Amino acid sequence: MRFDGKTALVTGAAVGIGRATAVKLASEGANVIALDLNEEMLATLKEEIETAGGKVMTLRCDVSDERAVNEAFAAAKKEFGPIRILVNNAALWRDFTPFLEVGVNLWKQYMDINVMGVVYCTRAALPDMLEGGYGRIINVASVAGVYGNRNMVCYSATKGAVIAMTQALAKEVSDKGVLVNAVSPGTVTSSEKNDYYLSSESPANYMGRTGSDMENANLICFFASDEASYISGQNLQIDGCRKKI
Ligand SMILES: NC(=O)c1ccc[n+]([C@@H]2O[C@H](COP(=O)([O-])OP(=O)(O)OC[C@H]3O[C@@H](n4cnc5c(N)ncnc54)[C@H](O)[C@@H]3O)[C@@H](O)[C@H]2O)c1
Repeated sequence: MRFDGKTALVTGAAVGIGRATAVKLASEGANVIALDLNEEMLATLKEEIETAGGKVMTLRCDVSDERAVNEAFAAAKKEFGPIRILVNNAALWRDFTPFLEVGVNLWKQYMDINVMGVVYCTRAALPDMLEGGYGRIINVASVAGVYGNRNMVCYSATKGAVIAMTQALAKEVSDKGVLVNAVSPGTVTSSEKNDYYLSSESPANYMGRTGSDMENANLICFFASDEASYISGQNLQIDGCRKKI
C-alpha cells in the first residue's frame, strides 16, 4: 500500500476534507494522527478507522497554541515514530463580512489559526523530516488565496499567505527530500453533510457542481505519496474549472 508504515498527521481531521484525508491515508497503510478541537467527531473518526482495520491516534489540539502543538507532536512521535507526512488542513473560513466590518480581533484569530497554525505544525514536524531525509508537507489553501473572495478579505489573506509560505519553504527544503505543496479547493460540499463522496449543484465552476471531500483527499494523498516525487513548491487548484467570481 502507498503509505505502509508511514506516520501521517492531519490537522482539522474531525470533519470534511481533513477527515476524508485521514480515512484515506489510514486505508492505505499510514499510521494516522488526527488533531482537532472537536472531540466528539474525533471519537467517531477513531471508531471508523479502527473498524476498517486502520491505525489512528486522535488528539484534541488547538493549532493556534504553539505549546499544545508541540505537546501533541511529541505524543504522536512517541506513539508512531517520526512524522513523515503532514497535512495542514485546520482553518477558519465561514465568515462572510465586508472588509470594514471585520474587527481586528477576528483578523488576529484568522491569522493565528490559518497562518500561525501552519507555522507551528510545520516547525514541529520539519526537523525529523530533514533528519530522515524524507517528508511530505501538504498545505490546504483555497482559491480565495489565489483570486481573493469578496467579503472574505481576511480569509483570502490567510490563504494567500499559506500559498506563499508553501512556495518559499519548498525552495529551502526540497533538496533535502522534503516536498512542500498546497492544494486550493474551490467550492466543496459542506462538511456538515458528513458524506465523503457527496457533490451538489454549484454555479461557481464549469463542471456545475461542488467537489467532494474525497476528491480533495485524493489530491492531498497524491501529493503525500511517492508518485509525486518530482513535485514541490506547487499550488494546485481543485475547483471544477472555476469561474473567476
Ligand atoms: N469547504 C470548502 O468549501 C473549502 C474551500 C476552500 C478551502 N477549504 C479549506 O479546506 C480546509 C478544510 O475545510 P472543510 O470545509 O473541509 O472543514 P471545516 O471548515 O468544516 O472544518 C475544519 C476543521 O478544523 C477544525 N479546527 C478549526 N480551528 C481549529 C484549531 N484552532 N485547531 C484545531 N482544529 C481546528 C474544526 O474543528 C473542524 O473540524 C480548510 O483549510 C479550508 O479553508 C475549504
